[in-house]
Amino acid sequence: MKAAAVFPDKKSLGVVNDFPQPKLTDAAGVKLRILSVGVCGTDREIASFDYGEPPKGFEYLVLGHETVGEVVEAGPEVQNLKPGDLAIPMVRRPCNHPDCVACRSGRQDFCYTGDYKERGIKELHGFMTEFIVDEAMYMNPVPQTIRDVAVLVEPLTIAEKGLIQVREIQQRLPWGRTRNGVVLGAGPVGLLGAMAMKHAGFDVFVYSREPQTSVSAQIVKKIGATYISSAEKSIDQMAAQVGNIDLVYEATGASQLAFEVLEALGSNGLFVLTGVPGRHGPVDINTASIMRNMVLKNQCVLGTVNAGKDAFERAISDLTGFYQKWPEAVDALITGRYPIDRFAEPIENQTGIKNIVQMAK
Ligand code: BGC
Ligand code: ZN
Repeated sequence: MKAAAVFPDKKSLGVVNDFPQPKLTDAAGVKLRILSVGVCGTDREIASFDYGEPPKGFEYLVLGHETVGEVVEAGPEVQNLKPGDLAIPMVRRPCNHPDCVACRSGRQDFCYTGDYKERGIKELHGFMTEFIVDEAMYMNPVPQTIRDVAVLVEPLTIAEKGLIQVREIQQRLPWGRTRNGVVLGAGPVGLLGAMAMKHAGFDVFVYSREPQTSVSAQIVKKIGATYISSAEKSIDQMAAQVGNIDLVYEATGASQLAFEVLEALGSNGLFVLTGVPGRHGPVDINTASIMRNMVLKNQCVLGTVNAGKDAFERAISDLTGFYQKWPEAVDALITGRYPIDRFAEPIENQTGIKNIVQMAK
């Protein structure tokens, strides 16, 4: 069967035509026919040979970590999935260290050792292929109502894991006020984050460089959030419009912008970083002003990566809710669909919002 791969030593991308179809051997396993696979910045990093690692013994890595598939076979021990059901596999698999309490508790998204593996990213083949097999414990059932957009679940889990932590940390405020949320960046992670925050009851402001006339800005307006273009308003002007910035959800990977906006974070505010910047030289930031604010305003900065089962479940139920409330806005997030033979195109030229490789319908 076909699989889309990156060959780091040869520094090339290509379709492997004779990738062996996996067999279901584990009684607790599930085999999926892949429907679609999303392309994101992580895939671009891997395809630039800056990140990612093939499984041991392979000269290539099959890409793809954002996916949805249809169950074609389930082992006799599998309770919650049967053929015909839709499922979304998680990305990360635990490390082997007996004392990694996170991985030993099924929370490899908080792995201490860094020896976790990730499908389509680190030492495990990904989902940009026709069939995959994995253990049912790493699969999440998905309702058919979101079949066409369920590929957005994985990028939404980033916001969901962030918001789970936001709720936990903000329990420190007995009156529960965390109202004004600023999203930095209007790519897929930012827009899905904006939807999650709006759905959770925040007043949402998306601050990004695209003009007010852009598709992203239109999506923001469609969900009842406010779009502020950084081409028109400075950070100070944005902050004045928002009022006390209770939460910033960063989804750009632009480190300088992030630290500049951190200076505008409000009292008792929380700043969630999700972007992974490339390696750049140092930039000037006002560390005294940031530290002063962080202390005098009880602020908290949090980095978050990957997602546990709780975030996948929330993402599936939230996306189902968004799709009922804002069908057009959700559909508008998927801007390009490519066959597997053209998988390199959306990786090499970033256009639109979320591009996907369509394997089946
Ligand atoms: C994925 C995460 C993964 C991270 C780092 C992201 O694109 O969504 O699941 O942990 O990359 O490899
Ligand atoms: Zn991704």
